[in-house]
Amino acid sequence: MVRMSTAPDLTLDGSTGLERAARNKLMMGLFIPLQQGAWSPSTAPRGTHWGFEYNADCTVRAEELGFDLVFGLAHWLPKGGFGGKMEFRENTTDPLLVTAALAPLTRNILLISTVHILYRWHPVMLAKFAATLDHMSHGRWGMNMVTGFRPVESRMFGMDQFEHDLRYKMAEEFTEMTIQLWEGKEELNFKGQFYKTERGWLSPKPVNGRPIIVNAGSSGAGLEYAAKYSDLLFITSPTGHDPAKACAALPDYNKKVKAVGKKYNRNLKTIINPHIICRETEKEARDQARAIVEHQDREATDNYFATFSGGDQASWKNTNRDDWVIGGNVHLIGSPEQIVDWLVKLNNAGCDGVQINFYDFLPDLEFFGDRVLPLMKQAGLRC
Ligand SMILES: Cc1cc2nc3c(=O)[nH]c(=O)nc-3n(C[C@H](O)[C@H](O)[C@H](O)COP(=O)(O)O)c2cc1C
Repeated sequence: MVRMSTAPDLTLDGSTGLERAARNKLMMGLFIPLQQGAWSPSTAPRGTHWGFEYNADCTVRAEELGFDLVFGLAHWLPKGGFGGKMEFRENTTDPLLVTAALAPLTRNILLISTVHILYRWHPVMLAKFAATLDHMSHGRWGMNMVTGFRPVESRMFGMDQFEHDLRYKMAEEFTEMTIQLWEGKEELNFKGQFYKTERGWLSPKPVNGRPIIVNAGSSGAGLEYAAKYSDLLFITSPTGHDPAKACAALPDYNKKVKAVGKKYNRNLKTIINPHIICRETEKEARDQARAIVEHQDREATDNYFATFSGGDQASWKNTNRDDWVIGGNVHLIGSPEQIVDWLVKLNNAGCDGVQINFYDFLPDLEFFGDRVLPLMKQAGLRC
């Protein structure tokens, strides 16, 4: 049985979810574990589950703890997922459908779904789905518009993979039409190179003009696309999982990204994706990190690493294979005080938010809420 959030209604002042998130010095999101094994190809004990009830519990609890958003990624994997004995990510649910069901369970939190817009969607259809989800959530829904970077996925949809920059050209046209449908007051006749519509129409319009748009590209073309359209950009550390190296490299990277946004008069907010392992003491946290790595599923880790270190995407380069057992991007491991120190450093390095993964989601989230969040408030990161 899923339960509804008991958080107070924060929308009564008329604010949007994005406005409420931006009141905090550091926005806070939770990566929900829609994929079997979440981010970590390890069999170390945990209760994390890809099923809807578990993800609903994570989302409701994240809202009650004051998180600004939850986010679901999307993968299209062949049989066995990333393989290994654990068949890492074999079961995955669809974030569009899951966020639809999360909408009436929550009041305040932003619900962001990944959509591979080039996998056979038409803008008229996606604009309608998006407007519907936006109404169901009273303006709290957002879309991570991705182009897909894995040839195996394109082939699953009966297509050869489009060349890298062409994908962003197609995405741009797709997004232009989608926005015109969301915002237009008249029927739309659109004749692009890739997408067309005659008398395209959408009603109701989204609640706040348009749903929140998120992107996660890192290449030149990806950043240009993100800068033109998105409210939030998921970034990765250009130097991999080590937080010290990340905090040294991120100021320049964030400056670069935000400068691209300024070209289009947009104030692009960046969100990085740390995996947090927090315990009362650093030793306990490091023991837990070691246990996760020791229980790695070697075959799944090899395949997972090969996927993310390969291909023509630019987000996940400069990483080590073993760091993928814990997964995610920057690894923050330590006591509550140490975690908050790192979060302050990431914020000082220009990151506007964090999108957090855990290993054992529900208990780790609870511990985070109990021990880390109060310290984040003391440090001025959260109101
Ligand atoms: C935090 C984060 C989450 C992402 N989620 C997805 C996802 O769910 N599905 C997907 O295909 N790509 C996702 N991406 C994007 C790809 O990993 C990759 O960065 C992008 O397709 C490549 O764009 P680029 O060529 O501009 O680097 C995500 C990226 C980041 C940083």
